Amino acid sequence: MTQKFNHPSYKVLITGTAGTGKTTLFEKLVRAEKAQWKFVFDHQGEFAGRFRVPSVTNIDDLEDKTFRKGWVVYDPADDFPGKSADGFVFFCEYVFITCKEVRGRKLFCCDELQALTDQHNAPEALLTVCETGRRHQIDGFFISQAPNRIHNSVRNQLTDVYTFRQSDANAIKYLVDNGFNEDEVRNLKQYEAIHRNLRTGQVMYSKGRGFSAENTSRSGPRGQEIPPDESGSGDAVAAR
Ligand SMILES: Nc1ncnc2c1ncn2[C@@H]1O[C@H](COP(=O)(O)OP(=O)(O)O)[C@@H](O)[C@H]1O
Ligand SMILES: [Mg+2]
Repeated sequence: MTQKFNHPSYKVLITGTAGTGKTTLFEKLVRAEKAQWKFVFDHQGEFAGRFRVPSVTNIDDLEDKTFRKGWVVYDPADDFPGKSADGFVFFCEYVFITCKEVRGRKLFCCDELQALTDQHNAPEALLTVCETGRRHQIDGFFISQAPNRIHNSVRNQLTDVYTFRQSDANAIKYLVDNGFNEDEVRNLKQYEAIHRNLRTGQVMYSKGRGFSAENTSRSGPRGQEIPPDESGSGDAVAAR
C-alpha cells in the first residue's frame, strides 16, 4: 500500500442554478489537471456524449481502462439501470480500493452530486474517498446545485468553490457562510462565476472565459487575467 500523508488536499465544488455553465467549467477544469487517473462518474452520459471522452459501462472494461491510465469514465446506466445512487456507491468503492494500491495523483469527479447523495445519506464510500483519499493522493471535483445538501463530512473537505449565479436561499446561505458576497452571487450573469479558495480566502472572477484575481471586493483593483487552459489533453500523467 502506498501512502503520501503530505499530499495537499484539493477538492473543488462547482455550484449554481441550472444552465449557468457548471458542467462546461467542470470539464475544462478536469481536462486541465495533471493526474495519472481521472475517474469520472458519468451518470448523465455527458462525458461520453458531449465531451467525447469514451465511457465504460461494465466492471471488466473498467479494470481494463484503469490499467491503461488516463480518463476512466464510468456510466452506470447498464449495470445499475434506474439506480444511479447504487452505481455511485459501487464506483466510490472501486476508486478507493484501486487508488490505495497505486502511486500517483488521481482525480475523483462527479457532476450533479445532489442526485446521488444528500446531507443525511452520503454513502460511506464517498466519505472514505474524500476523507481518507488524501492519503492516497485522491483529489475531487464535484458539482452540486445544492451545496447545502451535501453531507457535512464531504463539505468540510472542500478547498475551493466556484459559484455561478444562485438564487436558492439555502444555497446562498452556504456560500455566504463560506465568505461569498450574497449580492455578487445573486447578480452574476450567465456564464459568469466567482472562485474562492476557502483556505486562503483569495477570490477570482470569471466573465465566462478565464478567471481574474482580485483580493477583496469586485470594485477593488483587478489582478492579472488568467487565461483559460485550452491545452490539456486530459491524458497527461505527470503528478500535480
Ligand atoms: N462560458 C460559456 N460561454 C458560452 N457558452 C457556454 C459557456 N458555458 C456554458 N455554455 C453553454 O451553456 C449551456 C449550459 O451550460 P452547462 O455547462 O451545461 O450548464 P449547467 O451544467 O450549469 O446546467 C451549454 O449549451 C453550454 O455549451
Ligand atoms: Mg450540468
